[in-house]
Amino acid sequence: MDDLTHELKADAGLIGIRGEVLDAPRFGELRFWKDGAVVFDPRRGIITEVGEYRVMIQNLEAKAVQWRAGGPAVICPGLVDTHAHLPQYPASGCGQGELLPWLEGHIFPLEQAFTAERSEQDSPRFFRELARNGTTTAGLYTTIYEDSCDAAFRAAERSGLRITMGKMMMDVGSYGGLAPEKILALSLEQSERLCQRWHGAGGGLLRYAFSPRFAVSCSAAMMRGAAAMAQKYGAFTQTHLAENSGEIERVKERFPEAKDYTDVYAGCGLLGPRTVLGHCLHLSDREVAVLAGKDAAVAHCPTANFFLNSGLLPLARLRAAGVRVGLGSDVGAGPEVNLWQVMRSAMDAQKARSFYEPGTKQLSAAEAFHLGTQGGAEVLGLGDVVGSLTAGKEADLVVLDRAALSPYGEPGDLKPEELITLCVYRGGPQAVQASYVRGRAVYEREV
Ligand code: GUN
Ligand code: ZN
Repeated sequence: MDDLTHELKADAGLIGIRGEVLDAPRFGELRFWKDGAVVFDPRRGIITEVGEYRVMIQNLEAKAVQWRAGGPAVICPGLVDTHAHLPQYPASGCGQGELLPWLEGHIFPLEQAFTAERSEQDSPRFFRELARNGTTTAGLYTTIYEDSCDAAFRAAERSGLRITMGKMMMDVGSYGGLAPEKILALSLEQSERLCQRWHGAGGGLLRYAFSPRFAVSCSAAMMRGAAAMAQKYGAFTQTHLAENSGEIERVKERFPEAKDYTDVYAGCGLLGPRTVLGHCLHLSDREVAVLAGKDAAVAHCPTANFFLNSGLLPLARLRAAGVRVGLGSDVGAGPEVNLWQVMRSAMDAQKARSFYEPGTKQLSAAEAFHLGTQGGAEVLGLGDVVGSLTAGKEADLVVLDRAALSPYGEPGDLKPEELITLCVYRGGPQAVQASYVRGRAVYEREV
């Protein structure tokens, strides 16, 4: 391999990474090449070949490939975090109890202090944390402040990551200090401006998500306005749904005429194929059918659900109805941006369900890995672009240090299911060597 590296370096057009290659393009399906390789064109940002290294090397002889140096590696698609709150990272592990008091006591003060200056300082660090954990695509919320969100977008652009993000919108019980009737027009105007500036920017890596927080802190007019703007610009919408029983009670009080929580969003036109709904733990069959009918997607955030005592997602019920489901760290309710940790928590959630709900199917590591890659990509409307290691897709991938995954650094000869279980249970920043977006390294571990 070394000789080849030198021989071909001169006019290298393509980059190749050799290692154990793993992806999960469909739920329950794991693809694996033991001595595999992924080759991509860094100029176009596209994967050109995936397969057995030995076979590939014969076909590639005539082409210039610069092979990545380094020890034994596992190569996976870049991880997709469909739901996190950028300003909340410092609150990781802070507070306890349930959603509404936690928001009031810990989160609103933190977001209120997340000024543009603070955002300029913290946002680059946050994006670096994502990349250091192998996350290459994320759906994020910022604060209610336009300039703070703008600074986060500028940092996102510089990071090279694939980010869908928006300014938080809330006009009921907001931390901004303005009267609700003033907030409504201002928040819509500011969100629209941010969308005009950032939706499709960064060569298409950045997209805008109109982000009404949830029905507890938004008027119907605000939610309707957000939905209309998202429609106008072909942008995303994201909000929270049915995370916690206290929240659901509050929504019932605020919208007594609605059939249920989901009906509030449906009535405001918020549900569609570019809508991402965080949590969705406590939905009736009717509500699940509405989500499926509208093709709205769900961000499953199990670490956050455990932290805030919110509950266990009925994952099989949502998936059986045809609802797209991906994973979210939901930082700061979730303590880490490490999506491997979120995958194992998703497995634990289904295990816990199965203890009291006979017949509940447990989630395998391969299935959790699908949710954290291709599943998440589909939630964010990027299923044809990223999420699996497929020739023609964009080259978003993670290179893991094989030795760092194993206790005592002993690699062993693992079957694909064993290897993905190892990744899910022991994956984290200590094992990430490099992360790539569109064939460009957005993170390289220092050696
Ligand atoms: N519901 C509304 N806002 C939030 C938030 O910031 N975090 C979580 N976990 N749930 C929410
Ligand atoms: Zn959230």
